[in-house]
Parts: sequence; structure tokens; C-alpha cells
Amino acid sequence: MKLMITGAGGFLASRAAEYYKDGYELQTVGHRQLDITDPVQTGAVIADGRPDVVLHCAAVSDTGACERDPERTYRVNVDGAAAIARACRAIRAKMIFCSSDQVYFGSQATVPHREDEMLCPKNTYGKQKLEAEEAVMEADSGNVCLRLSWMFAADYSGRREHGSLLSGIVGALRSGADMAYPVYDYRSITDVWDVVRNLELAWNLPGGIYNFGSENDLCTYDVVKQLLVHLNADVRVLHKNETAFSDRPRNLRMNIEKICGYGIRFPTAAESLEKACRSL
Ligand SMILES: NC(=O)c1ccc[n+]([C@@H]2O[C@H](COP(=O)([O-])OP(=O)(O)OC[C@H]3O[C@@H](n4cnc5c(N)ncnc54)[C@H](OP(=O)(O)O)[C@@H]3O)[C@@H](O)[C@H]2O)c1
Repeated sequence: MKLMITGAGGFLASRAAEYYKDGYELQTVGHRQLDITDPVQTGAVIADGRPDVVLHCAAVSDTGACERDPERTYRVNVDGAAAIARACRAIRAKMIFCSSDQVYFGSQATVPHREDEMLCPKNTYGKQKLEAEEAVMEADSGNVCLRLSWMFAADYSGRREHGSLLSGIVGALRSGADMAYPVYDYRSITDVWDVVRNLELAWNLPGGIYNFGSENDLCTYDVVKQLLVHLNADVRVLHKNETAFSDRPRNLRMNIEKICGYGIRFPTAAESLEKACRSL
């Protein structure tokens, strides 16, 4: 099977490329080979490669950048994804689109979110991801959109750094800085390697939208407190941020019953974070 991965230099894509390089005929396409805001180039790269599956990871994933520059990031996150979807349809390739739990930001539910609930994303990135999902599914109902959660990696050292939870905490501990994390923030948190391993099952899923990550019931402050305990660090460096989301707690937690129905399993965030700390 021919697998093409876009955004190949990125946090998720670089690991997926490493993991799948032996089992598949792999085509990695980095930003320098393909600018997805150019639809003609996008169509040509996919037509030339003739992949069976395109794992579309290229995006501007920094939510702050999306707020600061909505037009440029729209061209990447929405128009770019739509161009990939059209190019995939032209050669009958299946597209696996990396969406985000941020589509749930602003939703009223206080329990873990389900894929079929009404959405009204509050931030620009979440709005872009939702619009991109619609374009991807409209192009071909056989495509798969994966709503990914906040991901972390224990193997960040020596790689291009990504502002993930674990690297941020270890960095703060090394510098001796105090840290503050929000108490009114609840979100799924997933080891990127669990996502990578499960991707292989994702490209056999029927077309649709799927929550794809680890469950987590703790607020972000409590998650970090547990992490510090696993790292044998002094928990007194950790402070409560009681300002963020104090008007209404942010809930990005995802219900994963739908993927469980297809035999896709993720450990809980607490389990995977404890395991990651042991491996540091
Ligand atoms: N990381 C998370 O916690 C998280 C959570 C939920 C969803 N996601 C989604 O999962 C996917 C992968 O995320 P990630 O964290 O691996 O992202 P990342 O590390 O930021 O990688 C994204 C890649 O896309 C490339 N890119 C940006 N603009 C491009 C363009 N116009 N044409 C082609 N390539 C372009 C970037 O290249 P340059 O660096 O050269 O610009 C980078 O290599 C994204 O769709 C993201 O939105 C991520």
C-alpha cells in the first residue's frame, strides 16, 4: 500500500513516517516539497505519487498563530485541506485528515464530547478545523477525520521542539521556574506514539469523523500535579491558575466509544503520562 504523509517535518508526521517506513511504500512530503496553499502543486504532487492513503498532517497547529493571522492560516488549514481532498478524490485515494478537539471549544456539554453533537467552536483554529472537516467529507464521504487531542511526546529531546505538555514541564523544572496550570480546564491528553500506532487502524475505518485520543477526567492542574509526583519533583513549584476559563470551565474531553467499537484502544491520559515519565 502506498502511503503519503503531508507536513512530514512536523511533530506527528515525522513520527508516523518513522513508524510506517518499513511496512508501507511511503512518500513523505514536507513543506519544502509542497506548499498546500498552492492547489495546482497539490493536485500535481498527489497525482504523481498516486498514493492509496494520504495522511494529511500539514497545518498551522498553533492556536495563537490562527488568532493573529486568520487569513493566512485559513489558506493552510481550510483551503489546503480542501485542495488535498480534491486531489485525493481525483485519484480515488482515501484521505485521513488530522482535525482537533478544539472544534469542541465553546460547546455547552460538561461531559466528554461525542462526534455527532452540535458545534460552535470559539477560537479561529477550531472554526478552521471544523470547516476543513466539512470540506474533506464533502469531497468524499469515504474520508476519515480524526479529532486529535493535545498530544505529548517523551522523545522530544533532539527533535524539533513542539510546545507539548511534558517537554514544557521538564523544561520548567530544569530552569527552576515555578509553573501555573488552569484548574478550570479539562481536556483529553494523548501520547503521540499511541496516535501513531493506532493510525494504521484508522485508515481502515469507514468514512466519518472520529474522536481519536486518550480519555482524561482530571483538570490540567491535577494532571500536572500527578506528573510532578511521577517525576519525583517538588509539587510546591506548581500553582493554580484560577483565572483562565473561570467564566465557564473549558471542556475538550472526548468520548471515544465510537473508535472503541472498531477495536481502537487508547490508554487513559493518566496511564500514558505515568509511562512516559518512567521512560525519561
Ligand atoms: N500537536 C497537537 O497536540 C495537535 C492536537 C490536535 C490536532 N493536531 C493536528 O494534527 C496535525 C499535526 O499536528 P502537529 O502538532 O504535528 O503539527 P506541526 O508540528 O506544527 O506540523 C505541521 C507541519 O505542517 C507544515 N506546514 C505548515 N504550513 C504548510 C503549508 N502551507 N504547506 C505544507 N506544509 C505546511 C509545517 O511546516 P513548517 O514548520 O515548515 O511550516 C509542519 O511541518 C495538524 O493538523 C494539527 O492541527 C495537533
